Amino acid sequence: MPLALYAKETPKLSAVNVFFRLLTLSVDAVMFSPVVTLNQVDKVYPNGTVALQGVDLEVLQGEFVSLVGPSGCGKSTVLKLIAGLGQASEGEIYWQMTDAERQLAFVFQDAALMPWASVIDNVHLPLKLKGRSLSAARADIYQALHLVDLQGVEKRYPRQLSGGMKMRVSIARALVTQPNVLLMDEPFGALDEMTRSKLNSDLVNLWQQYHWTVIFVTHNIYEAVYLSNRVVVMAAHPGRVVAEITIEAPYPRDDAFRTSHRFSDYCREIFAQLSLAETTAIA
Ligand SMILES: Nc1ncnc2c1ncn2[C@@H]1O[C@H](COP(=O)(O)OP(=O)(O)OP(=O)(O)O)[C@@H](O)[C@H]1O
Ligand SMILES: [Mg+2]
Repeated sequence: MPLALYAKETPKLSAVNVFFRLLTLSVDAVMFSPVVTLNQVDKVYPNGTVALQGVDLEVLQGEFVSLVGPSGCGKSTVLKLIAGLGQASEGEIYWQMTDAERQLAFVFQDAALMPWASVIDNVHLPLKLKGRSLSAARADIYQALHLVDLQGVEKRYPRQLSGGMKMRVSIARALVTQPNVLLMDEPFGALDEMTRSKLNSDLVNLWQQYHWTVIFVTHNIYEAVYLSNRVVVMAAHPGRVVAEITIEAPYPRDDAFRTSHRFSDYCREIFAQLSLAETTAIA
C-alpha cells in the first residue's frame, strides 16, 4: 500500500502503529520487489528461427504471472531461458535472488513420469539426484503428495493413474524440492475441463498458502485470467510481448469469479489483444 494512503487514513501515529506500518511496508516491499527481469531478450535458435525478439518482462516476488499466445510465439522459450535451459542470444536475464536463495522447479506439459517407477519413486527423483535416500526423504515425499491431494496411491505405477492424477504426481515432484519459483509449461493442457478446473483451484490455493512466484504458460485464456495477478500476452513472428493485463480481482477466486462480468471482460480484452497482434504481425 502506498505510504500516502497510510498517512491519509491515520494521521496520528502511536509508536505501535509506526512499528506495525514499517513492518507492513517492508512486507509490501518484499512482495513487490522483482524476482527475475528479462531486458530486451532475443532468442535465435541455431537453425535461424527467431523465437523471441526484444522481450521485456519483470516478474515480482509472490506474483502469479501467465504467458498466453498462439503456438510458436515463444512461451516455452521464455520459460526455458528463465530456467537457465539455454541462453539468450541478445539481452539480459537477471535474478534478484542469489543462486543459493533461488529454488526453481519446472512442471512440463506432459507429466513426464518414469513409467517403471512407483508414485513414491517418481516424487523422490529430484531429492535422489541431490543425494537424499528414500528413507530420509519419505516424510517430504508424503507431504508433497498430501499437498496435491494424492494419498493412498504411493505404490501405484503411472499406468494405473488417471491423467489428472499423473499431473498431480508431476506437481508433487516439483513441490518436494520446496521451490520458491515455480515454472509451469501448460501443465493442464491435456486434461478435460472439469479436471483442469479442479487443479486450477487447488493450484491457486497452494500458491496463496506458500507464496511461490509462479510463471505459468497456457493456451487457455480463461485459465490465465482465473489464476493470475497478471497476464502477459505474446504474439508470434517474431515472438514478442504485446500486452500485459493486470487482473484486479481478489483471491481466493471461486466459481462466482469465473462467471462474473469482470472475468469475461478480462477474457475479451485478452482475445482482442491477441487478434490485434495477429493482424499486425511484423514478419
Ligand atoms: N530447439 C529449437 N530449435 C529450433 N527452433 C526451435 C527450437 N525450439 C523452439 N523453436 C522454435 O521457436 C519458436 C518458439 O517456440 P516455442 O516452443 O517457444 O513456442 P510456444 O509458444 O511454446 O509454442 P506452443 O504453444 O506450441 O508450445 C517456434 O517457431 C519453434 O519452432
Ligand atoms: Mg510451448
